[in-house]
Amino acid sequence: MNQSFYVKTYGCQMNEYDSEKIDELLIHKGFKKAKNFERSDIAILNTCHIRKKASEKFYSDLGRLSIFKKNQEKLGKKIKIIVMGCVAQAEGEEVLKRNSSVDYVVGPQNIQVIPKLVASANQKTLHTSFLCDEKFDSFPISQDKNVSKLLTVQEGCDKFCTFCVVPYTRGSEYSRPVESIYAEARNLVNNGAQELTLLGQNVSAYNSSVYKNLTENGVSLAGLCKILSSLEKLKRIRYLTSHPRDISDELINEHSSNEKLMPFLHLPIQSGSDSILKKMNRKHTKEDYIELISKIKNRVPKMAFSSDFIVGYPGETEQDFEETLDLIDQIGFASSYSFKYSPRPGTPASLDKNLIDELVLNKRLKKIQKVLLDQQNYFNNSFLEKEIEVLFTKKTNKTDQFVGRTKYLQPVHVFSKVNLIGKTLRIKIEKLTSFSFHGRIISS
Ligand code: SAH
Ligand code: SF4
Ligand code: F3S
Repeated sequence: MNQSFYVKTYGCQMNEYDSEKIDELLIHKGFKKAKNFERSDIAILNTCHIRKKASEKFYSDLGRLSIFKKNQEKLGKKIKIIVMGCVAQAEGEEVLKRNSSVDYVVGPQNIQVIPKLVASANQKTLHTSFLCDEKFDSFPISQDKNVSKLLTVQEGCDKFCTFCVVPYTRGSEYSRPVESIYAEARNLVNNGAQELTLLGQNVSAYNSSVYKNLTENGVSLAGLCKILSSLEKLKRIRYLTSHPRDISDELINEHSSNEKLMPFLHLPIQSGSDSILKKMNRKHTKEDYIELISKIKNRVPKMAFSSDFIVGYPGETEQDFEETLDLIDQIGFASSYSFKYSPRPGTPASLDKNLIDELVLNKRLKKIQKVLLDQQNYFNNSFLEKEIEVLFTKKTNKTDQFVGRTKYLQPVHVFSKVNLIGKTLRIKIEKLTSFSFHGRIISS
């Protein structure tokens, strides 16, 4: 009988993409997808290392899974456990040493080895080299028919923000060749995809080393979006995540001229205090960010913005925090994420022991979250009673209900007897429940 596998994914969309690719690789090799770990022969944990909470979640799942594995062994059933992703890259050796039930540790640029590993009798091996070309070349042609798809175009990061593990877990910046991205995109679109989200930890730096040298073949993110727009059935292009230092005039121009490029930009700033930004090695100031946003808004008035914030970076004073609130007030974000600073092993910031008192941290987090939520509600409320365009991607659990997204990624729920998946419709927004719109169809 074919062996079965189950993948649990932690962390960001880059991990989601990798997990999809493992599914496809293993199915292509004849493995079956199981419904959960308990029903699988191969248990794969695709981990995240970004904050302590993320890696703790994985370690506690691994603890439970190890007990399950041992109990199954007593019943004569063998399960293989594979730890993948960013914890695998950062702490792989310790994971193997400390946990006798883990069979293989596989870093994010090594997923191509998994089919071979599970077919082999070897155990306890570590695979953490940075092999981006091999990784992307190994993927079989996707059969997936989803309307909205993720597509990794870039990996790694050379920016070395002092708090962040990504440059260590994903390695240095690597941009996939345009031809390979185009081939993957064309296949997805032929299969029914109408929306692509181009992924990279630093996607706005796509091909930046080539681009900066202005070689003839240097295609930037803007150029890549233009090329992908030539796929006729592709309606929407998004990209994630950008860095304020890499938003070029060419990219802004592309937004103003390319209707397929969605008017929504996730542009993390982390803090509004110049002294904290400097300590973080972000290499931009609060004013740079404000100027950039206003330049984009001038050229692309319909553009909306989201951001990430870290609260309580070591040494953050009340004044620094106020600067962040002031920045938020000046920009007006459509949505945002805010996190408590989490010291990560191996990062320069983790050596700074000037940690913020937990009570102060909690108070600041609560405050920033309230302000950001108010802004999100303000943004969302401006759509009530309006007619907007929605691309429907999925059926919900409710009878005859479908869900789609606006250009600004807001989810919209609509009842219909007719299947709406893959349709772009004008919807009258009638109601807002927390972060979700409800509406009715106006026209096709
Ligand atoms: N490449 C993106 C973000 C990658 S990580 C960028 O340049 O911004 C996603 C988010 O996690 C970051 O934007 C940051 O807000 C948060 N983050 C990263 N490391 C963190 C840490 N040590 N503690 C708390 N939040 C962190
Ligand atoms: Fe991490 Fe983003 Fe900074 Fe890179 S640019 S180090 S991914 S926060
Ligand atoms: Fe986490 Fe790695 Fe993504 S650390 S956020 S899974 S790049």
